[in-house]
Amino acid sequence: MSARSATPWACAASSSTPPTNASPNPAATTCARAPARRCWSRWRPATPSPSCLARASTERESAVPTSKPDPAKRGAALAAQFPYNVNKVAEHGAGVPPAGAASNTSDPLQTASTASESAVSPKVGDGVPPQGVNPNNGPLDRVRTDSGGQVLSTNQGVAVADNQNSLKAGLRGPALLEDFILREKITHFDHERIPERIVHARGSAAHGYFECYKELSALTCAAPFAAAGKRTPVFVRFSTVAGERGSTDTARDVRGFAVKFYSDQGNWDLVGNNIPVFFIQDAMKFPDLVHAVKPEPHNAMPQAASAHDTFWDFVSLMPESMHMLMWVMSDRAIPRSYRTMQGFGVHTFRLVNAHGQSQFVKFHWQPKQGTHSLVWDEAVRISGADPDFHRRDLWEAIEQGEYPEWELALQVFSEEDAAEFPFDVLDPTKIVPEEMVPLQVVGRLVLDRNPDNFFAETEQVAFCAAHIIPGIDFSNDPLLAGRIHSYVDTQISRLGGPNFHELPINAPLAPVHNNQRDGMHRQAIHRGRVAYEPNSLGGGCPFQAGRMGFMSFPQPVEEDKVRGKPELFAEHYAQARLFWHSQTPAEQMHIAHAFSFELSKVQVPAIRERTLAMLVNVDAALADMVALRLGTLVPDPQPMAYAGELPAYPPSPSLSLLSRPGASGIHGRKVAILVAPGVDEVMVATLQAELEGQGAVTRLVGPHVGMVGGLEADMSLETGPAVVFDAVVVPDGEVAADDLSGNALAVEFVTLQYRHCKPLMVVGAGAGLLAAAGIPATLPDGAPDPGLVGSTPADLPAALAAFVQALASHRVFARETDPPRV
Ligand code: HEM
Repeated sequence: MSARSATPWACAASSSTPPTNASPNPAATTCARAPARRCWSRWRPATPSPSCLARASTERESAVPTSKPDPAKRGAALAAQFPYNVNKVAEHGAGVPPAGAASNTSDPLQTASTASESAVSPKVGDGVPPQGVNPNNGPLDRVRTDSGGQVLSTNQGVAVADNQNSLKAGLRGPALLEDFILREKITHFDHERIPERIVHARGSAAHGYFECYKELSALTCAAPFAAAGKRTPVFVRFSTVAGERGSTDTARDVRGFAVKFYSDQGNWDLVGNNIPVFFIQDAMKFPDLVHAVKPEPHNAMPQAASAHDTFWDFVSLMPESMHMLMWVMSDRAIPRSYRTMQGFGVHTFRLVNAHGQSQFVKFHWQPKQGTHSLVWDEAVRISGADPDFHRRDLWEAIEQGEYPEWELALQVFSEEDAAEFPFDVLDPTKIVPEEMVPLQVVGRLVLDRNPDNFFAETEQVAFCAAHIIPGIDFSNDPLLAGRIHSYVDTQISRLGGPNFHELPINAPLAPVHNNQRDGMHRQAIHRGRVAYEPNSLGGGCPFQAGRMGFMSFPQPVEEDKVRGKPELFAEHYAQARLFWHSQTPAEQMHIAHAFSFELSKVQVPAIRERTLAMLVNVDAALADMVALRLGTLVPDPQPMAYAGELPAYPPSPSLSLLSRPGASGIHGRKVAILVAPGVDEVMVATLQAELEGQGAVTRLVGPHVGMVGGLEADMSLETGPAVVFDAVVVPDGEVAADDLSGNALAVEFVTLQYRHCKPLMVVGAGAGLLAAAGIPATLPDGAPDPGLVGSTPADLPAALAAFVQALASHRVFARETDPPRV
């Protein structure tokens, strides 16, 4: 995009720089309050920093006016400095808005609500007017609550003498209405739940930071990219889309990947998904899509599943969903962990620099742990074994200091480049292939702290696609336009009113000062009688930021007002083909199986047939595979909406999950060591030490928990089934191996590890368990299986090295057959 040099643009590189204010009166000064920013220690018992103390004492002095003004004339001295609205003339035309006229006074009574504010009490405070400060914008420590050593009380702070018994007329008599303690407790309990998110209800989150690798001022003036090494605090929530709040983590679904940057320019929410495209092209269809995928309205089934008639009815009538369906039927929709997913901003956004020059951008999060997924049979079993599989994985990894990391990569391109692409960059069903616009890595995201309280943080966090900061702007993507409206709108009912931005997890670190007032659950107590702008009674504050503030990129809009779509949006299949042809054979098989599974659950044959007719337009072999498993013939292809020639993209290897194994080795991988009485306990200790030394997590799984011989088992074969582990080791020990071979649960354990293509290592007599399970020694083509590591006790070090290598590679898909061999 060419520079819009005619526009004298500049966005705030740092909001702490005071503006040069236009003042209507030479006596009016630049507002001294704006740069003063926060001084948190004044609201905390902790020792204040010297600079804060200095400021507090200055304010205390200035809080004592030399002569008390007539209360009715509060603000008069300030008002006198504004003989007229000097900025009025600049409101017309398209120039840069000027900074607001602002003045200040050394007399805090001028801007007070009441002449009595210096009257002090433990409740109203120390009589020092909190000028220029919003204490809501501080670190979360200000609201973290701990009850250590404290007495139990009511919400009114009254100590509760008896928390066991309600108040009754006699020991066997009726409970009394006057029992305000019982009633408060029950009333609060009755209202503990809030509505769940209408979509993405199920999720988990963590705190962390974004660290910029190099300053990007040529591209954007957004604060997180201002300097190399700069860290911006973040809160990140991962989610499924369709399931309810209590649904299983491993459903086949898109995953949300929402990042809230608490930047010095305000909150920026990059509310993305783990798939770079979407089902629909226009926000008008979002309610239809969600109604189709959610449980069917007559019987509220199925939960957290797209495998039902209404979903496939809708998408098979909406061929623009074809590209997204390929991704959702791929292993991307059953990730191994939130830590092993990519994230994408999906829409085309804009970066804007301080000169007002703009480029288009696509945002990508790339996991350092690599991209890894489950296999479908495993995902289904995990739903039963541990519905919190992803939540637990994220929580435990952070607790263990295995902090997940992603790198942020950008695809930056100009509007002129975009005009040459064979697709429309405003169409959210299209990617920009990496071969067309390479990715540049610009920073990393690290999640290093679990929340203190799930409800207060993870449930109450409110992400919003409309939360952008100077340096970032929207494109005209019509899906994005609907999102800009939707999030705050839904959160007003989910979070009970318009003041949820004051909830501690949502409050920005950047100071908030405006004239919005009142509404349900307002926390701030605004000082003064001014709640409008322009004003003179408040010295003009809070004043308009002018060029320091957010200014929309002035994109020209010239066309007629219409309802419709650009022509290129009609091309629905070329990128679905690109995706299919970029997958490895194993991934293609998984996609075909996923379509077959989902469509097998569809009861109406016409819907299956219509979907097959879409698949033919992607690839005849894919349609054949699915039709075979549905016991039907491949129908004629659906007619295409696009009259032009379909773009032919070369395969893009980076679209395969297997192209990103990650660089973190076996860090965070979970390994089961099967134990039974008679197992070689010394070997077990060696295995644990070696594997944990390389970052893996080991668990001893036995016939029962507790003592198994001289070892303490962490889990039983029932509570710790194969599917919740990445790999298994069966150590040496004749008696133990016999015991396990006669236990169907142990046989099933290694069978499933094998079927799900995970690494298995057996030492000495441990090999007997594989024989009992009938596990083949080689791959179907007779080649050695790199994921099956056998060893004698003497060869243990070499075997461990091979096992670690197999574990780092995650799966051996060359083992897969249809149907499975064991
Ligand atoms: C017009 C299309 C869309 C609309 C109207 C829409 C609307 C919504 C709504 C109402 C919520 C619940 C918010 C809440 O209660 O806090 C939500 C959540 C979410 N949406 Fe969308 N959405 C749309 C498309 C998308 C797309 C394309 C993406 C991905 C790029 C996306 C990603 C998310 C994520 C990640 C969440 C969960 C945020 C969280 O963790 O709290 N949505 N969406």
